[in-house]
Amino acid sequence: MEKIKKIVLAYSGGLDTSVILLWLKEKYKAEVITYTANLGQGERLDFIEEKAKRTGATKVYVEDVREEFCNDYVFPALKAGALYEDRYPLATALARPLITKGLVKTAEEEGAEAIAHGSTGKGNDQVRFELTARALNPDLIILAPVREWELGSREEEVRYAQKRNIPVEITEEKPYSLDRNLWGVSIECGPLEDPWKEPPADAYEITSSPEEAPDKTAYIEIEFRQGIPIKLNGKTLPPHLLIEELNRIGGENGVGRIDMVENRLVGIKSREIYEAPAAVILHAAHHELEKLNLDKDTFHFKGNIASKYAELVYNGLWLSPLRQALDSFVDQTQEFISGKIRVKLYKGMCQVAGRESPYSLYEKRLATYTEEDIFDQKASKGFIEIWGLPLKTLARLRKIQKEQK
Ligand code: ARG
Repeated sequence: MEKIKKIVLAYSGGLDTSVILLWLKEKYKAEVITYTANLGQGERLDFIEEKAKRTGATKVYVEDVREEFCNDYVFPALKAGALYEDRYPLATALARPLITKGLVKTAEEEGAEAIAHGSTGKGNDQVRFELTARALNPDLIILAPVREWELGSREEEVRYAQKRNIPVEITEEKPYSLDRNLWGVSIECGPLEDPWKEPPADAYEITSSPEEAPDKTAYIEIEFRQGIPIKLNGKTLPPHLLIEELNRIGGENGVGRIDMVENRLVGIKSREIYEAPAAVILHAAHHELEKLNLDKDTFHFKGNIASKYAELVYNGLWLSPLRQALDSFVDQTQEFISGKIRVKLYKGMCQVAGRESPYSLYEKRLATYTEEDIFDQKASKGFIEIWGLPLKTLARLRKIQKEQK
C-alpha cells in the first residue's frame, strides 16, 4: 500500500462522506482535509465546518463556486444544447469536474498525495471524478472507499461510526439517493427502481405536480446575450439568481420534471428522475432563439453536435480536447444569439409564446401572403426544375429501361 500522509476528501456532510472520513483516517493513518463546493444545493453549508472537524478533519474548505459553475459549465452546455439522451440537462455530470478542480487545487496547495470521493462503483460519478483528476494532475492518487470497503448498508455505516464514538444523526431518511445543485436535482433508488411505477409524490424536491400547479398561466420573458440568459422579466440578474428564480417559477408551475431510463457509462440501464425547471425552460428558450437567428445550415449542423457534447459531459470527458474544440465552434455560432423569448408555463407545460431579436433572420416580407410580399414566386419554377433534375432523370431512364425489356 502506498504511503499516504494527507488526503483531500470531497465532503457533503452526509452519512456516507462522514463515514468515509473516519475510514480513510483509520486505514491510511493519514490526515484528512475536507473540500465542499457550494453549487447551490439548496441547503445552508454553515454546518459543514463544525461537523467535518467533529468527525476528525484537520482542515475544512468550503468554497462558493456558483458563479463559476454557471459561467464555465452550465452556460457552455446550454449554448451547446446538451441534453443526454435528449432529456437530461446534466446537472450532476456538469458539477463533478468543478468539484474535482477544487479537490485537486486543494491537494496541491496542501501538499496532499491523494484525493478521495464517495461515489460507488456502479455509477457515472466515479468516472467523472477520476478522469477530471487525471487530466488536471496525473500524479495524484485517487481513493474511492465505497468501492473497497465492506460496509454494505446504512445501518453498518452508522454502527461503524458509533463504534468509533462519532455521533452520526440517524435521521428518518427518504429511500432515495439524491444529488442537487442549481441546475437540477437527480433522484434515484427506492420505489424508482421499478420503471413501471410512477414516481411517488415524495420523490420530488423542488417542483409541484402539474395537478397541484396553479390554474393560471404564467408568462415569463428571458433575454439572452450571445447565447447566455442575462435578464428575466426585464431585470438583469446574476446567473445563479436568474437560474434560482426560474427554478422557483417553473417548479411552482410543475415544469421541469423528467422521468427516464438512461444508459449509464458502466453498462447499466437505470431509472432516474430529474427536476430541472430552469434548465428545461432555458434550453427551450435558447433553442427557439437559435431557430430565429441562425442560418439553416449552422442550425442543423449544430443540432448534430449537441448529442455528442452531452455524451462527452455525461461520460466524464469534460476536459477532453474534443469538448474544448466543440466549445469554440459553439461560441462562434452564438455571436448573434441575442434577443428575447417569451415563455408560457402552465401545469407542467413549457411553451414558447413569442420571440424577438435585432438579429432575427425572419423576414416578414418574404413570409407574408399579403400585398407586402417581395418574394418572386416565378423564380421557384427554375429552382424546382434543377433541384428535381436528378429525380426526373432517374424516372425517365427507368421508364426507358423498362420499355426495352
Ligand atoms: N444519473 C445521473 C448522472 O449520471 C445522476 C447521478 C447521481 N444521482 C444521484 N441520485 N445520486 O449524471
